[in-house]
Amino acid sequence: MTAKVFTIAQQKGGAGKTTLAAQLAIAWIAQRRRIAVVDIDPQGSLSHWIELRRQSMGSAIGFTPSTLSGWRLAGEVERLMRLHDALLIDSPPHAMTEARIAVRAATLVIVPVQPSPLDLWATRPTLELARAEHRPVLLVVNRMPSRATLAHDMIGKLAAYEIGVARTTIGNRIAFAASMAVGSGVVETEPGSPAAQEIIALGEEIWNATPAAS
Ligand SMILES: Nc1ncnc2c1ncn2[C@@H]1O[C@H](COP(=O)(O)OP(=O)(O)O)[C@@H](O)[C@H]1O
Ligand SMILES: [Mg+2]
Repeated sequence: MTAKVFTIAQQKGGAGKTTLAAQLAIAWIAQRRRIAVVDIDPQGSLSHWIELRRQSMGSAIGFTPSTLSGWRLAGEVERLMRLHDALLIDSPPHAMTEARIAVRAATLVIVPVQPSPLDLWATRPTLELARAEHRPVLLVVNRMPSRATLAHDMIGKLAAYEIGVARTTIGNRIAFAASMAVGSGVVETEPGSPAAQEIIALGEEIWNATPAAS
């Protein structure tokens, strides 16, 4: 097995887990990578997006979708790893057992965080969970405002925590939500846009930072 397993985790809701899962999946399939997208969040937002995608594209959605409850995850991950280059797992908020199982399955835990002190503080339990499971973490700053002195200060402070922080930040852009509303990603709906460039850059950064599982 050589697939990469990315779990997107953040106990704070609304940080951008589902957005990143969907947008990264579309960026990667555009590079012809074989991707499975796994939704274990009982809220089912990612599955809803997949359903919209099916409605407009039929079965050729470009990746393998999987919706299941977290306790069945381990077996499913093993099965999907044999057939794909990478898995993207969207995990539930709150300190659910499912989130722990999803973190355990990961080769890299991707943690979206919005650039405010409150959001950063709320990230601590997720970082502790990853540490307890001995999994590497990459923080991704999401919804970065265009004038962002506070955000830049915050990113500077993060470096002192010795947590991996993605060089690529994701802007606060309506294009992300708009593409999701039609079952797509920005790479498809607005190719070449700043949003598309960001998600492609983030995708490459994550891909190249992560050794495959063995
Ligand atoms: N980079 C972004 N730019 C603009 N809106 C965003 C961005 N990331 C997330 N959002 C919006 O924020 C809300 C929460 O995002 P979501 O991905 O559902 O978070 P989570 O899955 O962590 O709860 C959604 O309405 C989504 O469209
Ligand atoms: Mg979500």
